[in-house]
Amino acid sequence: MQLHEKIPNNVNLSQDRKLLRALEKWQPNYMKWWMEAGPAGFQADNIYLRTAIDVGSDGWANFDYVRMPDYRWGIFLSNPEHERQIPFGDMYGKPVWQEVPGEFRNQLRRIIVTQGDTEPASVEQQRMLCNSAPSMYDCRNLFQVNVEEGRHLWAMVYLLHAYFGRDGREEAEALLERRSGDFDKPRILTTFNEPIEDWLSFFMFTMFTDRDGKYQLLALAESGFDPLSRTTRFMLTEEAHHMFVGDTGIGRVVKRACDLMKLDANEDVRAQGGIDLETIQRYVNFWFSSSLDLFGGEISSNAADYFATGLKGRAKEEKYPDHVALAGAYDLEVFENGRLLEKQIPMRNAMNEVVRDAYVEENQKGVDRWNRIIKEAGIDFEIKLPSRRFNRKMGIYGGHFFDPAGNPITDEEFNRRRFDWLPGDKDKIFVKNLMQPVLELGKMAHWIAAPNTGINGKPIDFEYIRRA
Ligand SMILES: [Fe+2]
Ligand SMILES: [Fe+2]
Repeated sequence: MQLHEKIPNNVNLSQDRKLLRALEKWQPNYMKWWMEAGPAGFQADNIYLRTAIDVGSDGWANFDYVRMPDYRWGIFLSNPEHERQIPFGDMYGKPVWQEVPGEFRNQLRRIIVTQGDTEPASVEQQRMLCNSAPSMYDCRNLFQVNVEEGRHLWAMVYLLHAYFGRDGREEAEALLERRSGDFDKPRILTTFNEPIEDWLSFFMFTMFTDRDGKYQLLALAESGFDPLSRTTRFMLTEEAHHMFVGDTGIGRVVKRACDLMKLDANEDVRAQGGIDLETIQRYVNFWFSSSLDLFGGEISSNAADYFATGLKGRAKEEKYPDHVALAGAYDLEVFENGRLLEKQIPMRNAMNEVVRDAYVEENQKGVDRWNRIIKEAGIDFEIKLPSRRFNRKMGIYGGHFFDPAGNPITDEEFNRRRFDWLPGDKDKIFVKNLMQPVLELGKMAHWIAAPNTGINGKPIDFEYIRRA
């Protein structure tokens, strides 16, 4: 472990002068990007953050006060697995690659760049949120997510520099040049160009979009390209906190809505300064459907290629009995000539859908937790994940219209009911107006309940941010 170097790492960076020089050249550009596109404030303040200092079971959770620009963005790979074998695809059981296999070079670089691009994108999307944080605790969590997404960018840039030579270095520069929402140089994936201007959207993003990230990382953790597998394995340990922020954040907004409903049953939640459950449902509908698009097409020859070549597998490949997946089919509900019908898709072409299934299932557990809060309050309301056909922009359902239950409807019907189902300007303005900063020690904004516990065993009213 080389912690005291300019770039903390466990990849023996000091032994590779050429690579070290290339990364040291990239570093000032990264810092420039961070100051320009990272959190719009608080950069001089001391934030109580965790920093990865080791890949061991507790070494990565090292908490202390740090100014964000001084954060130790390091390069950490999970420990190598002895004699690891390619866990799926045509080369199932062969030794994993320690170098980029020449015939798959372009595909592999594309995978790494696409993953890498999402990391700085989310920091950019969230940069204004610190000015409307509902509490010091939440603001600290936002910064934790932001610095770790920054580290994930480092993780992908390391792979590009270490394994792809000149075009890798060019891609690494381009990762700092694109900007979320920019007309000329947008981020690669649509969801990562959506502005996140309020905290309800932030919690939705960390619940649904970061969880897409988790499933992409799980699929890459299976990769036959071992450095990619080891990098993503370690990223996953950090990612868990991001989803915790989203899941519990939405839970707290739900809880507050319920508390207000009980407090005054005659006055609606909005009039009492909370976010009503119907609005929360519309935000769920939007962010869930938008995040579903990130998994790619339901029937995908790309996904089949990635699987065949051993570059990208299924999340938790060991769960599946057949790692070659040449036999068998996936039953997919397709929409043809205005009708839904079941079709059998060759398993390899359905890999995106297999990963999407696992993702949907995990989200449902979070929704169940929110519904328990509502039920315990004695309120008759259930938050529901919309059908995976609802409001899709990509894949076989894109361009067709479905209600949240998944029934086909006309575009007129969809447009007539759009704002029953998706947040409209009225919702967005209402939610945005609630977003007034609350940074006094231990205080919470009116629209959100306090969390159950603080961070790292600290109390909720701990001084998570020390203003300079
Ligand atoms: Fe990330
Ligand atoms: Fe994340």
